[in-house]
Amino acid sequence: MIVLGLESSCDETAVGIIEDTADPSMRMRANIVATQIEEHKPYGGVVPEIAARAHLDKIDDLVHQALAQASLTLEAVDGIAATCGPGLIGGVMVGAMTGKALSVVTGKPFIAVNHLEGHALTARLTDDVAFPYLLLLVSGGHCQLLLVEGVSSYRCLGTTLDDAVGECFDKSAKLLGLGYPGGPMLENAAAQGNAKAFKLPHPMQGRAGCDFSFSGLKTAVRIAVAEADKPLSPVFIANMAASLQTTIAAILADRTTNALHILQKDGVAVSTLVVGGGVAANGAIRTRLTQLCDKHHLPFVAPPVPLCTDNGVMIAWAGLERLRLGLSDDLDVRARPRWPLETLKGENRA
Ligand code: KG4
Ligand code: ZN
Repeated sequence: MIVLGLESSCDETAVGIIEDTADPSMRMRANIVATQIEEHKPYGGVVPEIAARAHLDKIDDLVHQALAQASLTLEAVDGIAATCGPGLIGGVMVGAMTGKALSVVTGKPFIAVNHLEGHALTARLTDDVAFPYLLLLVSGGHCQLLLVEGVSSYRCLGTTLDDAVGECFDKSAKLLGLGYPGGPMLENAAAQGNAKAFKLPHPMQGRAGCDFSFSGLKTAVRIAVAEADKPLSPVFIANMAASLQTTIAAILADRTTNALHILQKDGVAVSTLVVGGGVAANGAIRTRLTQLCDKHHLPFVAPPVPLCTDNGVMIAWAGLERLRLGLSDDLDVRARPRWPLETLKGENRA
């Protein structure tokens, strides 16, 4: 079985092709990602209308590129998957409409994929991780701890009360003058810094439950920047970046530990801790979670960085997992700006 996947919910236009093979390393037939970083750079963040227009400009060409990379024709594909939410609705509509059109032309089933389910199931594409597993989903729009019980079956253990963790990276990077996109820039700057230089607050750490909060941390960075000599010195920037990164890693580890304890109390034995979403590219966070898993004697899976940030392969894979279970969608399925994972179970998608 071969599935083509389209992703266009934020600032990456992406097409992936996945084949259902036993060997995980043979599954990815094509992975084409066109980033819009240059288009959004002048604005310091993603501008929804510019994003939607850029998706429209690029997506059909990327489908051709992906088919060429896989040495396949469209007729060889068994299903067309597209992100139908959550995300910036203009972009989501471009991918969803393109997917529906390809489905009509080929007569192959259409699979409406929840973008978050794409991130959630990536570890099964790369590592055949068995259900149930604990997922720390950390991206520009989300910060959640989820019990992944199966395809379409998720239990949210904790979520952010304000900003997503990626937003905290991005906004703090902007305050430090590091540019866009902030996460990777901040990680680079942190490499030269002293993580003990600044004592930052640890919102929610030590509290019961698994919820997150990052706005206070961002405010602490803003205050420190306001009080610092201008222009900011490279040492200040590096030290603040390192302190912030270490603080965020500690908060994520604290909340994840609570989730493991809650699941243990509920009698749920998870196979693995999985981290997904764009922020999972961060080396310090990966190291901190590896330590946590060593302590709990729990396997840890962090998919390769290009599969943690937005891509079409994860959408193709989630589509394939659904198609294997006989799940596909009517062409009147809606594109949605909001679409919580917990609502997937038994939902009517029309
Ligand atoms: O999953 P993703 O590609 O898009 C969303 O669905 O949000 O995540 C993008 C987020 C951005 O906030 C970006 O700054 C962050 O992931 N990110 C990082 C790193 N690479 C990407 N954050 C911290 N360290 C990184 N190396
Ligand atoms: Zn994402």
